[in-house]
Amino acid sequence: MRMYDLIMKKRNGGSLSGEEIRFMVQGYTKGEIPDYQMSAMMMAIYFRGMSEAETLALTMEMAHSGDLLDLSEIKGVKADKHSTGGVGDKTSLALIPLVCSCGAVIAKMSGRGLGHTGGTIDKLESFDGFQTAMTTERFIRQIHEIGMAIVGQTADLAPADKKLYALRDVTATVDQMSLIASSIMSKKLAAGADAIVLDVKTGSGAFMKQEEDAFALAREMVRIGNGAGRRTIAVISDMDQPLGRAVGNVLEVKEAIDTLRGKGPEDFTALCITLGTYMLLACGIAKEEQEAQALLQDAIASGRALEKLAEFIEAQGGSREQVYDPSLLKTASITEPVYAEKDGYITHIKCDEIGICSLLLGGGRETKESEIDLSVGLVLEKKKGDYVQKGDVLATIHANDRAKFEAARARFLGAYTFSAEQPEKEPLIKGIVRE
Ligand code: URA
Repeated sequence: MRMYDLIMKKRNGGSLSGEEIRFMVQGYTKGEIPDYQMSAMMMAIYFRGMSEAETLALTMEMAHSGDLLDLSEIKGVKADKHSTGGVGDKTSLALIPLVCSCGAVIAKMSGRGLGHTGGTIDKLESFDGFQTAMTTERFIRQIHEIGMAIVGQTADLAPADKKLYALRDVTATVDQMSLIASSIMSKKLAAGADAIVLDVKTGSGAFMKQEEDAFALAREMVRIGNGAGRRTIAVISDMDQPLGRAVGNVLEVKEAIDTLRGKGPEDFTALCITLGTYMLLACGIAKEEQEAQALLQDAIASGRALEKLAEFIEAQGGSREQVYDPSLLKTASITEPVYAEKDGYITHIKCDEIGICSLLLGGGRETKESEIDLSVGLVLEKKKGDYVQKGDVLATIHANDRAKFEAARARFLGAYTFSAEQPEKEPLIKGIVRE
């Protein structure tokens, strides 16, 4: 079999067989197929798509490219959560300790930033000393000890997705439904959880811009998860503007900490409670939605959720002091407001453009090797539906470089649309997919 022939087959609109997908995934994981051929294949898939059977085969091959964790020795239902990616999406940072402090057991494998979206692993590295690489034994031991672990992609778990994810990030091949479904579900299947809650984003900051595409992606992932014997549910949520107010690694960590203190933005807090409710139901910790919500709210009010975050950060080598005193986290040298240039209601925010502002500041990667600047980003003061007057502060930009600040500022101003008419409020949760 030759990779050249497979690229041509897909480029011409053909379907790859299970055997061909195995050849491609195994060859790429071992380094026998070079990045340039895999990039061409990703672009061919981007334009030609994949059938359900091809997507399932790609998922299974990637899940089996490393170890498949067996968590059966840990008592109870093990849960996992994954987002399809968004701007300001710091959900896992708050949600995972929150549900864990209510008794859920969480085994989670997370990714790094992808395209204009951020990644949980980069955000967690905002804590000095935090380690996301760990052996399978240590992953399982930590779950036994504190009830949760979040691991980055390692050579042990879904290594094929790790390589492909980094390649897609820099070759403009992220926002393809089958590639997203197989990337996410291969990690979820490899990490071994029994219950999986998926947060599928839709809107201008999501990979799936159209709601019907987000529902289709959700159905595809739920089918793969349930088919593999994992209880899987997807929540479709709004990403037509950044989630919460902070965009950028350290800034998002601070907002997640505020949320666990009960002082987070309304939309972000509501999303954590919704996803947390489904996780507690899936784990059998609560029988009804109201009961789950009361448990989650009590975990925040009592400080148990914040303490679980501190315990988790410490267990993975990070600084618990930074959880209780986030002013100890890295800060940027330039912190300046951006002012509105006209009056009116904010009717639209090009959410992906806000993600790109953070990339321009150095908060994301341009090539696979790029180092990211954790301290930079934006904090939005005004969001959709707010009325502003010329001269009001729209956002604060955190930067370490004047030229990058100016580039981000110009881009930011182009992302907002104003009108004399107040826009209708969009619901945060668009729907639930269970099968
Ligand atoms: N998150 C992932 O893990 N993979 C994707 O392809 C997109 C979002």
